[in-house]
Order: sequence, then structure tokens, then C-alpha cells
Amino acid sequence: MNSITYSCASGGVGAGTELTVVVTGGAGFLGSHLCEHLVAQGHRVICLDNFHTGRPANVRALAESGRFELIEHDIVVPFESMLPRFDHIYNLACPASPPHYQTDPVATALICSQGTYNCLQAAKRHGARVFHASTSEIYGDPEVHPQTEGYHGNVNTIGPRSCYDEGKRFAETLMTDFGKRHGLVTRMARIFNTYGPRMQPDDGRVVSNFIVQALLGKDITVYGSGEQTRSFCFVSDLIDGFARLMANGDGPLGPMNLGNPVETTVGELARIVTDTVGSRSKVVYKPLPIDDPRRRRPDIAQAKAVLGWSPKVELAAGLRRTIAYFDQQLRHGYLHPANGRPDMVQLSRARPELVGAAP
Ligand SMILES: NC(=O)c1ccc[n+]([C@@H]2O[C@H](COP(=O)([O-])OP(=O)(O)OC[C@H]3O[C@@H](n4cnc5c(N)ncnc54)[C@H](O)[C@@H]3O)[C@@H](O)[C@H]2O)c1
Repeated sequence: MNSITYSCASGGVGAGTELTVVVTGGAGFLGSHLCEHLVAQGHRVICLDNFHTGRPANVRALAESGRFELIEHDIVVPFESMLPRFDHIYNLACPASPPHYQTDPVATALICSQGTYNCLQAAKRHGARVFHASTSEIYGDPEVHPQTEGYHGNVNTIGPRSCYDEGKRFAETLMTDFGKRHGLVTRMARIFNTYGPRMQPDDGRVVSNFIVQALLGKDITVYGSGEQTRSFCFVSDLIDGFARLMANGDGPLGPMNLGNPVETTVGELARIVTDTVGSRSKVVYKPLPIDDPRRRRPDIAQAKAVLGWSPKVELAAGLRRTIAYFDQQLRHGYLHPANGRPDMVQLSRARPELVGAAP
């Protein structure tokens, strides 16, 4: 397992006490890093995942700890009665990249609504604290910049991104109202673009797209002019933020932005990636997808004041680690166990020297 050190000055969730923690979507990109962090803190972790976009390989090494259990389950189906008593639940289950969440928009809307409801019901039954992975997408194409938690967003209710954006907005409402009605401690992170090892090489997000294209010597695809901005947070910084947020007091707390406030244009990201890889890929431009946000930058004043949190890893350093991971994945002929990922087979054929024995 590609190990990353998580620093958490607060000691993290229930530091010093062994807790039983459920993580939905724990075999995905962020979930696997969260599970790794929780196990390292001495907690017992139960991961629920249907492997829609996650992979058992992401968490396989955690089984050796004796404190990690992986259960294949779709959280749209209630699960409260199948779990032992637990203390905390982190709800991360939901495909996060547009090509994945748009494949079945109705399923995405239901994961955000029914899936979140099932997490809350389970938390109520077990008297557990609940964390929900919300997103900067709830701000839509923002008219306020940078985005503060007080901004209510500019979101299309019926566009191709709505199943995710509106689903995540509804999940925040449910978390708030259910939490109040049943006296639960709820914590919500509005996550801004996060990258790092264990993103899927073919998941269609801008960082993974650029890195894979650069490593394979293919054209770098920029949608729009490349002047649109994003703020990229390295995964270890984000997981530190999750732990601090979950550990913060017992009182009511609204959703909190977690992300890196350094704003980068997509064109600049393409340049840094090609320079770091040493690739001669050329940039090609394609039309911007519908409702694609033009600007994205978190105002993290709340996270700084309440959690003492701010990101530490600079973009160039985080990209170097991520590029090294993707390089290794491509060399080992990355294949998804569920569907064989034919697109990655094609990518590997484009540079046969990168194809090795399957992991
Ligand atoms: N990575 C980011 O930049 C980012 C930004 C904003 C929000 N988020 C949120 O963080 C969470 C994790 O994102 P990620 O980047 O790790 O994505 P990911 O796609 O790698 O992980 C999602 C995980 O959820 C699982 N899953 C999907 N539907 C499920 C279901 N019905 N039942 C059980 N498991 C299911 C997938 O198999 C996968 O393991 C998501 O909720 C996402 O919306 C991520």
C-alpha cells in the first residue's frame, strides 16, 4: 500500500480510545485513506462499499491489522441491523467524478438521499456521531468568490450535474433536520477538489486525466479555454481536516469548507503536470461541459478558526507523489476487477512499455 502520513495535531477522532467506526464508500479514493488513518489511530473500522467506483485492493493491506472489516453492501439498502454497535459513521459512499455519477443519475440521487437516510437511521439506532462528505458542487457555478459557507449557491436543478449537486444539497438538509430531531451529533465537510494516490487512473477527473495523458504521451484534453480555476487539496491534508472536524466538540456545527485555497487555472495545472512528467504531450481544447463551474476556491476561515486546520502540501509536491502512483499503476497494467476497464487496456496499449503483470 502506498503509505501517506497523516498529521493531526488534535489527535483525531476519539484519540486514545478505541472506537468502532463505520466508513461507507471506504474502498474508494478518499475512503481508503480515511480507513487507513482510523486503523492507524487504533480504531476498529467496518467498511461498507458496493465497489461501484472503489476497489478492494485499495484497502486490502488493512486486513493485516486485525481491526478492519470490508463488507460488500449498497447503502441504498438499509444496513442498521447488520452491524455491531458502533460509535461513529463516516458517509463517503457516492461516485464523485462526473462520468461515473452521470452514468446512472437516478442511482446517484438515491445514494445521496436514501443512502444518507440509511446512515442516519443506523446512527440513531447505535447512538453514533455522523460525518457526511458534502462537496463544493453544492455552490454550483458560483456568483460569490471565494465561496464561504454562508453562500447558498447557484445550481441548476435539472442539468446533467443535478443528480449529484442537488443530491448533495438534499443530503445536507437531511443531515441537519434528522440530526436536530433525533439529537445526533452531525458533521459535514464541503470538500473541494482533492487529489492523490488511489484516484482511479480513468475516473475522468482533471488531475487524473492530465497525469495519465501526460504519462502516456497523449494529448492533454482541456475543456473550455483552460482559464477556469480550481483549488487542489492533497489527500493527506483533507483527511487531517476530516479527523479534526469529527473530533470537534458535541455541539451543533454547520457544514464546513475543506479544501486548498490556492487557486490554479486548469491550463496552469496542465503545464505543471507535463513539466513534472517531462512529457511532450500537446494541449487540445474541447467545449466546456454544461454547468461546468468557472471558478472554485474555498474560503477556509471557519476551518482555520474552529479546527485550527489549513492545508500544508503544496501542489507541486502533491502532484509528484500522485504522478509516481499513476506511473506505478500504469506499469502494472491497471485493470478494474469489476469490469476490466477496457479504456485502460487501450491506454496501456498506447505505451506498451508501461504494461506489466497485473497486480
Ligand atoms: N475527491 C474529491 O475531490 C471530492 C470532492 C467533493 C466531494 N467528494 C465526496 O467524497 C466522497 C468520496 O469521494 P471519492 O473521491 O473518494 O470518490 P470514489 O468514487 O473514489 O469513492 C466513492 C466510494 O463509494 C462507493 N459507493 C458508491 N456508491 C455506493 C453505494 N450505493 N453503496 C456503497 N458504496 C458505494 C464506491 O464504490 C467508492 O468506493 C463522495 O461522497 C464524494 O461525493 C469528493
